[in-house]
Amino acid sequence: MSKLIHETVYVDENVKIGSNTRVWHFSHIMSGSVIGKDCVIGQNVLIGPDVKIGNKCKIQNNVSVYKGVTLEDGVFCGPSMVFTNIINPRALIEKKDEFRQTIVKKGAAIGANATIICGHTLGKYCMIGAGAVVTKDVPDYALMVGVPARLVGWVDKNGNKMVKMVKKK
Ligand SMILES: CC(C)(COP(=O)(O)OP(=O)(O)OC[C@H]1O[C@@H](n2cnc3c(N)ncnc32)[C@H](O)[C@@H]1OP(=O)(O)O)[C@@H](O)C(=O)NCCC(=O)NCCS
Repeated sequence: MSKLIHETVYVDENVKIGSNTRVWHFSHIMSGSVIGKDCVIGQNVLIGPDVKIGNKCKIQNNVSVYKGVTLEDGVFCGPSMVFTNIINPRALIEKKDEFRQTIVKKGAAIGANATIICGHTLGKYCMIGAGAVVTKDVPDYALMVGVPARLVGWVDKNGNKMVKMVKKK
C-alpha cells in the first residue's frame, strides 16, 4: 500500500515519507524531514524542519515535532503533548543556534498533554503519563508521572506494569 497524504496537508520540498504512512488533515511537514514507513500522523501536526522520525510511529492530533527532536521506531506521541527545543526562550533574542536535542528511543510512549523539556533522552519503551513534565533523562522501560515527572514503576514492551518478583522460600 502506498502512502496516504490528505489533500489539506502541506509537504515542503526535500521531504521523505515512507510507504504506507498516513498523514491526516491540516498537518505540515517541513523541509529536510524524513518520516519512516507505516506511521500515522494525526490532524494538525507540525513536523520539522530537519526532523527524523522512524518507522511505525504514531503521532496524535495537535503535536509539533520541532527541529532538534528525533523519534526512533515505534514511538507514540499522545494528543497535544509538547516537545520544546529552547531551554530559556526570549522573543527579543534569536536563539536558533541554541536548540537542545531530544531523543525518543524505540517503542517509547508519551501520554496526552505531557511536556518534554529539551535536551533529554527518553529511553526505550518508557511510558510517560498524561500531563507529566519530563525534566530529566528517562531510563529504558521507566514509568514516569507528575510534575516534575518522577519514576513510579516499570513497564514491559506491551505497556503493562512490571511486578517485582518475590522469592519464595
Ligand atoms: C500513567 C498511566 C500509564 C498509569 O496507568 P495505571 O498504572 O493504570 O494507573 P492507576 O490508575 O493504577 O494509578 C496509579 C496511581 O498513579 C496516579 N496516576 C495515574 N496516572 C497519572 C498521571 N498521568 N499523572 C499523575 N498521576 C497519575 C493515580 O492517581 C494513582 O495514584 P494513587 O495510587 O495515589 O491513587 C496512565 O494513568 C496514563 O497517564 N496513561 C496515558 C494515557 C494517555 O495519555 N493516552 C494517550 C492516548 S489517548
